[in-house]
Amino acid sequence: MKVLVDRRDALSAVADATVSGVFERGEKDDTFPRSLAKEDEASHGAVKAAWTRKEIRGKRKELTVIHRPEGRGRFVLVGLGPRPRYSAEATRRAVAEVVKGLKGKGARTAAFRLPSFAVDNVDAEQAARAIVDGSILGGYEFVKYKSTTEGGVEESAIHLGEEFARGEAAVKRAVADQLELDEAVVWARDIANLPADTATPERLAEEARALGKEYGLKVTVFDETKLAEMGCGGILAVGSGSTHPPRMIVVEYPGGARRGRTVAVVGKGITFDSGGISLKEPPKMWEMKFDKSGAVAVLGIVRAAAALKVPPRVVGILCCAENLPSGTAYRPGDVVRTFSGKTIEVLNTDAEGRVVLSDGLAYAVKQYRPDEVIDLATLTGAQVTALGDDTGGLISNDDRLAQGLLAASAATGEPFWRMPLTDYHRELVKSDVGDVRNSIEMPVAGMLTASAFLETFVGATPWAHLDIAGPAYTNVSTRKYQPAYQNIGATAFGVRTVVRYLLDSSRS
Ligand code: BES
Ligand code: MN
Ligand code: ZN
Repeated sequence: MKVLVDRRDALSAVADATVSGVFERGEKDDTFPRSLAKEDEASHGAVKAAWTRKEIRGKRKELTVIHRPEGRGRFVLVGLGPRPRYSAEATRRAVAEVVKGLKGKGARTAAFRLPSFAVDNVDAEQAARAIVDGSILGGYEFVKYKSTTEGGVEESAIHLGEEFARGEAAVKRAVADQLELDEAVVWARDIANLPADTATPERLAEEARALGKEYGLKVTVFDETKLAEMGCGGILAVGSGSTHPPRMIVVEYPGGARRGRTVAVVGKGITFDSGGISLKEPPKMWEMKFDKSGAVAVLGIVRAAAALKVPPRVVGILCCAENLPSGTAYRPGDVVRTFSGKTIEVLNTDAEGRVVLSDGLAYAVKQYRPDEVIDLATLTGAQVTALGDDTGGLISNDDRLAQGLLAASAATGEPFWRMPLTDYHRELVKSDVGDVRNSIEMPVAGMLTASAFLETFVGATPWAHLDIAGPAYTNVSTRKYQPAYQNIGATAFGVRTVVRYLLDSSRS
């Protein structure tokens, strides 16, 4: 998908689809909006006629298609919902609806009228960024295994018109940056969508190496021999049941500013989570090919950080293993010694994410002395129960970091909600035979006991844990409730939030 910026008004350009946003009209409101005057003129009155017929209501997800009288192309009017609640997110979703709606309909080019989206609190740059998100993320499909695909919009043009022609340079810069970011997101989606027979820990290492080559980044891959030397007993234990050996992968982006701060970003990379000896139920087990989403998000974050040259140094660490039952698998009752020297009592082999992260987090802290650590993980079913599959959980020992991430989350439309971490949760994960246990006997606060477990391995370093178990992927039943820019399958959730945070929080 190509996205470009054009000075002209969209109505005078000839695209296959000329797209304008429309706010929701009130119940008794019959006055034709002045903002649609130009569309009406260009359509020789067809837009006003559709309005009068109440064909256009401006409700979210509503698409009205009116063919151009001259024959070539069409006008698409997309609902933005109620104007008092308008935000960039409404445009992100609306544009994705348009791109999806035009799929297989012979529209190769779409021209978006910026003045219809850059209104009220949403400025031209924010609206343009949202159009890029809606186009790229909404147009995304995982097609690797499809022998045929429907053609769709290949080129989105953002038309400034007279109203915004003066801001061209700034809009162009915003669009170029957002393109880099969204390319990283869809790249990450493509990797996260790969099934577990293909996306093995070693394959994730290959992806990291390719990324390193493209952006000139240092990549280090620790294989099972090296992990044993280092004492990474957590990753080794979880990976011990699979013929695909585990890997810890480190990708370093040196930072834009000299002597800037260091942010370590650690990801859970379980290429398949069967539960291990504590085997999961069959029905939704296949979804556990998405259990590497945290680690893949880390790849996306480092790629975008390098492409956008964010100020801080970013160290990405991927903790990769496949969790399978077998004669060599780790078992409930085992006690494993981790990189930090702390021991974990394994009570449930299905609580494996925290076990691999224990090594990655401790390694990040010891090796890089980062100013901040952020981890991303599809860690607990309890996250989905507590917050649903649209909102990620945020747990942090540092208010400034948590606030920064929440602000970034709000700006990107990836919702996160902060949850508490208290001594109660810390008490619950203490072990009788080792230092911590990976599961507790009561079904309470599962997301938070997991967080207390992770905190053990970061110590006092400012740290934020993003539990993305729900929003990391969508399935056929939940897809229809999600924004149109989240396709079926992997969403690469967290990439846009963390990159926004790295861009905005960079005083040093
Ligand atoms: N990968 C799962 C968590 C998960 C559940 C992700 C649903 C996405 C959707 C994780 O490894 C897991 O199995 N967690 C257990 C922990 C429990 C055994 C303490 C859980 O949440 O049930
Ligand atoms: Mn599990
Ligand atoms: Zn898991």
